[in-house]
Amino acid sequence: MSGETASPGAASDAAGGSSWVAVGTLDHLADDTAVHVELDGLPVCLARSDGVVHALLDECSHGRVALSDGDVAGGYLECWLHGSRFDLRSGVPTGPPATRPVPVYPVRITAGGIDVAVPATSGGAAHG
Ligand code: FES
Repeated sequence: MSGETASPGAASDAAGGSSWVAVGTLDHLADDTAVHVELDGLPVCLARSDGVVHALLDECSHGRVALSDGDVAGGYLECWLHGSRFDLRSGVPTGPPATRPVPVYPVRITAGGIDVAVPATSGGAAHG
């Protein structure tokens, strides 16, 4: 389901100034896979590993390529370009060449649906 776009109309208030946005259903995200979604202009990588869904900025902190094109296994996502592995829970790389963490976003599962809390100020801005 690469390239899906979530409707801002699906948003509701979430903690910390973020808004919950519905991004799809669990049926469309197999275990050990990742997909790209755009949430209010923010590129997000949705990844599922060991049955748990994670959301992180879909941009490697090293080379700014899409992490959703990488490999998912054991709670980690490996960047396809240079091989840094990121902890899906924290966004922290486990080794070089990436040294900076990737932002992660809260996820909640509701009756088979997946919601992601995106920063209220996302609007296409990511991180610096
Ligand atoms: S671009 Fe991801 S590790 Fe280099």
